[in-house]
Amino acid sequence: EKGGYDHFMLKEIFEQPKALRDTLSGRIVENGHVTLNMEELKLDPAELRAANKVCIVACGTAYHAGFVGKYIIENLARIPVEVDVASEFRYRNPLVDAHTLMVVVSQSGETADTLAALREAKGKGAKVFAVTNVVGSSIAREADAVLYTWAGPEIAVASTKAYTTQLLAMNLLALALAEARGTLSAEEISEIAGAMREIPKQVEDVLNAAGEVRMVAEKIKKWNDAFFIGRSIDYAVAMEGSLKLKEISYIHAEAYAAGELKHGTLALITENIPVIALATQEQVLEKTISNIQEVKARGAMIIAVAQEGNKEIVKFADVLLTVPRTHPALTPILAVVPLQLLSYYTSVVRGCDVDKPRNLAKSVTVE
Ligand code: F6R
Repeated sequence: EKGGYDHFMLKEIFEQPKALRDTLSGRIVENGHVTLNMEELKLDPAELRAANKVCIVACGTAYHAGFVGKYIIENLARIPVEVDVASEFRYRNPLVDAHTLMVVVSQSGETADTLAALREAKGKGAKVFAVTNVVGSSIAREADAVLYTWAGPEIAVASTKAYTTQLLAMNLLALALAEARGTLSAEEISEIAGAMREIPKQVEDVLNAAGEVRMVAEKIKKWNDAFFIGRSIDYAVAMEGSLKLKEISYIHAEAYAAGELKHGTLALITENIPVIALATQEQVLEKTISNIQEVKARGAMIIAVAQEGNKEIVKFADVLLTVPRTHPALTPILAVVPLQLLSYYTSVVRGCDVDKPRNLAKSVTVE
């Protein structure tokens, strides 16, 4: 059942190329122009044009996918996006109306808080668009439109392939919005669509370097704390990397916007403490590098994740994990893979129960 892998989590990490291919299948046509099958989605372009705000609501890893979605949708479709964890959204009397496009993200489609948020938004007249992995789930049934992630069953408690397919779904939604709202040219859409098609193969390339990540796990295994830093969309990836490490290896980890460290958290950076620095975004690269220097000057061990060919970062990283180059909106799908592997191998070397971490359930159906 684990297909020769030691754990479901590792199997699911390695299933990502297929999961991503399946999720893209039929949604981008041959000429490179995005179709995002409107019929499947039951979303009216006129409605997408009329929306004045997007609210993305989810829990845990799905929330982190939504956080990436905010950067992508705002950048490509030029519409304001709010992101909330579902258990907060419900109780803050959210400003939602008929012009809000509500997006709920849930692997299981059964998370109680996310479902309640969906109902709350629907009750206020919003159109609800669901990104879910389970056909016929409560969230799929109650949403106005559904974009399925075709990740296949995810057994390990720690979400991996559901997350990367959710990231792809965020890109598809962003392109659909951009197309309907005329914020990108046909060439720009086609360029991103082309880059999306390369992603499954590029994830395979990252997986081929799993052995390097395994060695990094040896370096961080004795630590009780770790920091994940990044700017822009890399900050969103840092949040997911941090959660993954915490939940399965029980190492305390924090994700920080790299520029925010000096406002307090830098006090916690001591000799050899692991800092996992995400540096995939060209437009903030110099700034990220200066933040890396700040922590390096305090003796931190820098594990950097950067795009291939980045000549600057090599000077500062103690360990460099590279990912192939792609469009900036798609880098999270590649950058998270070494972080998933790092959590996995660290959990294994620390002797933790990888697939069933303590106190956690796969599907949270209580509020
Ligand atoms: C973490 C993890 C959880 C889930 C969260 C939401 O690895 O799996 O944080 O992402 O419980 O679950 P779904 O997506 O089923 O709503």
